[in-house]
Amino acid sequence: MFHSIPPAMLERMKFLETRDIEDRTDGTPRIQRLRQIPPETGKFLALLAAGAPDGDIIEVGTSAGYSTLWLALAAQTTGRRVTTFEVLPEKVELARETFRLAGVDSIVKLIADDARKHIERFDQIAFCFLDAEKEVYGEIYEMVIPCLVKGGLLVADNAINHRETLQSLLDHAMHDERVDAVVVPIGKGELVCRKV
Ligand SMILES: C[S@@+](CC[C@H](N)C(=O)[O-])C[C@H]1O[C@@H](n2cnc3c(N)ncnc32)[C@H](O)[C@@H]1O
Repeated sequence: MFHSIPPAMLERMKFLETRDIEDRTDGTPRIQRLRQIPPETGKFLALLAAGAPDGDIIEVGTSAGYSTLWLALAAQTTGRRVTTFEVLPEKVELARETFRLAGVDSIVKLIADDARKHIERFDQIAFCFLDAEKEVYGEIYEMVIPCLVKGGLLVADNAINHRETLQSLLDHAMHDERVDAVVVPIGKGELVCRKV
């Protein structure tokens, strides 16, 4: 999978990696920043998503579509599709450009809306990547866990760099008998929950 990333996808990944680094140092306002995952987290997500059971692959928080490209790589490898949600129109526009340039339009469905209005109609989720505002993590966790297939995964970003804000969710996940959960120290810290 990593040895055969299509050139157009690789080119867009590199472009977004450069822009994300610039965003963090050139004073770009937070609302405009891409705030995307680092490449090693992308690889981690792709590995997990490629090995997930049958079912839907979804993402909450597209931004410009960088993490979606890693999920699309996994989806392409396993003959599946990805549905991703983004609320901000400027980010939606950038993400559409990403998917067109990377050649993944046919395997990525972008829904320009608040994910909370849509998640419950996905009742067979194999993999969900949660990377939105931290205030909605608890609510989205409670929507996604019942919809996961057996062995399905919920991965939530920022479990270490926003540990204080997410502490009650992390404690809840660790004691939640519906899942096995662990925090993986990669990138900004990933909470990985597997439905038992
Ligand atoms: C940290 S960024 C996502 C970065 C992206 N996952 C990546 O790594 O390339 C978070 C994004 O989530 C979006 N967002 C926040 N709450 C949302 C919600 N309830 N539904 C859909 N998108 C949401 C924000 O507009 C923002 O663009």
